[in-house]
Amino acid sequence: MKIKLELSKIIESALQSANIETDEVVISDATKPEFGDYQFNGVMKLAKELKKNPREIASEVVTHIDTTGAIGKVEVAGPGFINIFLSDEWLAKQSNALIDDDRVGVGYVDTPKRVVVDYSGPNMAKQMHVGHLRSSIIGDTLANLLEFLGDDVIRQNHIGDWGTQFGMLIAYLEEKNTDGNTQELKDLEQFYKDAKVRFDESEEFANKSREYVVKIQSGDEYCLALWNSFIDASLGHCEDIYKKLNVNLTRDDVRAESFYNDQLPQVIETLKEKNISTTSNGAECVFLEGDENPIIVQKSDGGYLYATTDLAALNFRDRELNADRICYVVDSRQAQHFKQVFTIAKKAGMVKESVKLEHIGFGTMMDKSGKPFKTRDGGTVKLFDLLDEAVVRAKDTIKERDVHSDEELESVAKAIGIGAVKYADLSISRESNYIFNWDKMLSFEGNTSLYMQYAYARIQSILRKYDGEIDGDIIIGDLIEHRLALMILKFEDTLNRASVDATPHTITSYLYDLVSLFMKFYELNPILKDDIPEEIKLSRLQLSKLTAKVIQKGLEILGIEVVEKI
Ligand code: ARG
Repeated sequence: MKIKLELSKIIESALQSANIETDEVVISDATKPEFGDYQFNGVMKLAKELKKNPREIASEVVTHIDTTGAIGKVEVAGPGFINIFLSDEWLAKQSNALIDDDRVGVGYVDTPKRVVVDYSGPNMAKQMHVGHLRSSIIGDTLANLLEFLGDDVIRQNHIGDWGTQFGMLIAYLEEKNTDGNTQELKDLEQFYKDAKVRFDESEEFANKSREYVVKIQSGDEYCLALWNSFIDASLGHCEDIYKKLNVNLTRDDVRAESFYNDQLPQVIETLKEKNISTTSNGAECVFLEGDENPIIVQKSDGGYLYATTDLAALNFRDRELNADRICYVVDSRQAQHFKQVFTIAKKAGMVKESVKLEHIGFGTMMDKSGKPFKTRDGGTVKLFDLLDEAVVRAKDTIKERDVHSDEELESVAKAIGIGAVKYADLSISRESNYIFNWDKMLSFEGNTSLYMQYAYARIQSILRKYDGEIDGDIIIGDLIEHRLALMILKFEDTLNRASVDATPHTITSYLYDLVSLFMKFYELNPILKDDIPEEIKLSRLQLSKLTAKVIQKGLEILGIEVVEKI
């Protein structure tokens, strides 16, 4: 339910009736419960323009506000704020309308956009590690969210599958493959290290590696086949992780760096033609205003760079994918890179002016002591191990509750463990560095996925305990029910805000507020006690059921599963 929009319409017509002209009416959330549910704070500005006393204007406007619909009561406060209290009847009516609505009141965007979400983007020469975790998790949530709201989302996995290191890797693959054994690729990190040792120790091997780089680039069939099988295995590792993580990326979403290879000369041509690049010491460079260093788009040996590929990809996404908005969910440390390629692409007309280009940056993952996340022996933590550990820890956390069979325990632990890792990542503002802390993320209390999953399971258990069909209307009986119903109705406004700002933590904060309110409601208002009138019992059951539906939808967008029992 778009509550703010609804309220702004009512205020707008009150202003009209009071003969006050205004452009946009902005409704804010009330800062304290005693200020009502929402506030209209625009009177002060209007008063300034009209050179009148704001309190007087506010008092005048208030007399014109329709209090027969959404708004139950208004009050003038402070220098001229208008406090808005929603009507219980209206809240009840709106909530009742959601009972049979799968989307729990969330509508589709008026004008769907074609949005490309570029995320994950691991490098094939190495095993995926925790650094790629954030991009995969945040990007997938953003894609789910936009899709849910009705945008036409194209997921793009811009994997790094090209570069000189592949010469060494396929030369080593060939060497290892002589006895038909590709087991080595099980641990890519190790494979890479071993290949490097060979490269450093043997002149012959190093020469072959260099020769193979040239050969893949010139399209040599034998080398390309080796390269393909290497990429295939490496991508297979990533897909195992996506599956474990519940991240919706498939092979169809992969458009690798190499895909753009044959478009790179054209990128350079265009930049030269439009006088955007200049040749400097044999290299093709773009000098942007305000930047100290030039952006090299072609090296003096003819080789292309990361930026060149991104320019080609931008052009492709505009021309072929018809994107209206392109979101790059990539580490904040690449902010400069994206700022530069966006500027160059627009300047060169490689992307239409109207296309919205966004770098959705995020901070680094740190350990408890605030250092970048490493294993005990200082190596990078492999994602697979990390996710397995999450499931083991989750199992320990719930084992003693003794509510699951052995089989159930396995799948519940998976939902909880993986959910914990994802939620912890999504719940902090994405620009911040993120401190990885097992105990905190697997806690039943606080802003954790387990808290949400536990509330969901608890509601399911209440619903199971009621014998009879749960039908009947929601009646708002007191302030806590008022606040809970309102929170449920705020789901749509929350998702819209999260999608515009690309901030998953807007959703997690909302879920935390929702569940905290529900817990309070549950504590204050018994549901299944014998002496509760049936009508109220059913109303409270319906309110609980709706809460569970919102929790489930919210978590689903975050790619986290709910469980029926905890
Ligand atoms: N492979 C890159 C990295 O690991 C991320 C790719 C991001 N996407 C892009 N279009 N540049 O740093």
